[in-house]
Amino acid sequence: MERARATRAARRARTCYTGASVKPFSLFAPCAPGLEPLLLAELEELGVRNAEALPGGVAWAGHHGAIYRANLGLGLATQVRVRLGRFRASKLPELRRKARQLPWGPWVGEGGVDVRAVCKRSKLHHGGAVAERVAQAAAEAVGEVPIAEGATRVLVRIVENEVEVSVDTSGEPLHRRGYRLATAKAPLREDLARALLRVSGWDAESPLVDPMMGAGTIAIEAALLARRLPPGGRRRFAFEDTPGFDAPRYAKVRAELEAKTRPALPFPIHGSDRDAGALEAARANAERAGVLADLRLREASLSDAFAEVDGATALVTNPPWGARIGDGDALRDLYASLGELVRAREGLRLAFACGDPDLARAVGLPIRSALMTDAGGTKVRFFVGA
Ligand SMILES: C[S@@+](CC[C@H](N)C(=O)[O-])C[C@H]1O[C@@H](n2cnc3c(N)ncnc32)[C@H](O)[C@@H]1O
Repeated sequence: MERARATRAARRARTCYTGASVKPFSLFAPCAPGLEPLLLAELEELGVRNAEALPGGVAWAGHHGAIYRANLGLGLATQVRVRLGRFRASKLPELRRKARQLPWGPWVGEGGVDVRAVCKRSKLHHGGAVAERVAQAAAEAVGEVPIAEGATRVLVRIVENEVEVSVDTSGEPLHRRGYRLATAKAPLREDLARALLRVSGWDAESPLVDPMMGAGTIAIEAALLARRLPPGGRRRFAFEDTPGFDAPRYAKVRAELEAKTRPALPFPIHGSDRDAGALEAARANAERAGVLADLRLREASLSDAFAEVDGATALVTNPPWGARIGDGDALRDLYASLGELVRAREGLRLAFACGDPDLARAVGLPIRSALMTDAGGTKVRFFVGA
């Protein structure tokens, strides 16, 4: 049944929706606050030349291949959206009529649509009614009955009577790569771990150490980065279930990204934690991510973290910080020990996440805040050695 559906979808895609003459889609990838310039750089590394960083994400234009490449290859975005259209509307019938004209075809299939609406400073202010009318409009446009199960997620944003309708091509947020099923204490989201690695200045060509690795997110993201593995390479995306899905093109994009990867790393990424449960979680996650062989994972306390490490150029970590785990003096001592470890190794770069600037300064080294973002509703800064 699944295969029949995929074949049908691919046929429709080839006959109706693809081809060089079709205008490119307006794309937008949202990200955690503060990550926009890093995301722009990541998109440029994927070969995108027309992108622009905006508050909350990055916008660019591209065809189906660009959507597939971004979903697979962006490690800092939370989603890839296609903007179906923009128009003005101040009454529900007008909204429904104009929404019906949008190019729903490639995006809405048998699963229908699941519409979320946000209204600000507009005559249309009831999100529920707006969502309902847009869902009706989509159903009328494609001639199918919308049901919520397996639906295409649609986002409607109305600001000062200007309506913007977008489709989520990703499904599960992109930071859910699929590997982190096991967690330890206070895990750092995958996209934030990657952003911390990006600001650390690590060259991705030499050993790196995370001496408080928890479930291993930083070490795993470091290995994915260094091996140039597409962060979304092991998961499914919502676009795979849409009528416009072009399976041969997707296979081509995957193969193209695959061709750039390294089969293994010529140097290790080190991860350690004093907690045996964390080590177990990190191993299981690394295995699922396909990078276990690139990591040297150990149960060790911070003071012992470098016992089996040679030639490391960066220490990147997410130590415990007040708001979540640990307390006062003990934490300050821990940060001071972290600083000692770095001071004892010339040329070792330091980057760490911490929500408390006073605590961060307890490392006793010159540091600067390279980025401020949001981790589950709490402000967190990424500090790097100055
Ligand atoms: C905030 S968590 C790290 C979370 C990790 N980044 C992740 O995404 O799962 C901090 C970790 O530091 C470890 N830790 C705390 N004090 C330590 C010490 N003295 N030596 C080694 N590990 C320590 C804890 O066991 C915990 O797993």
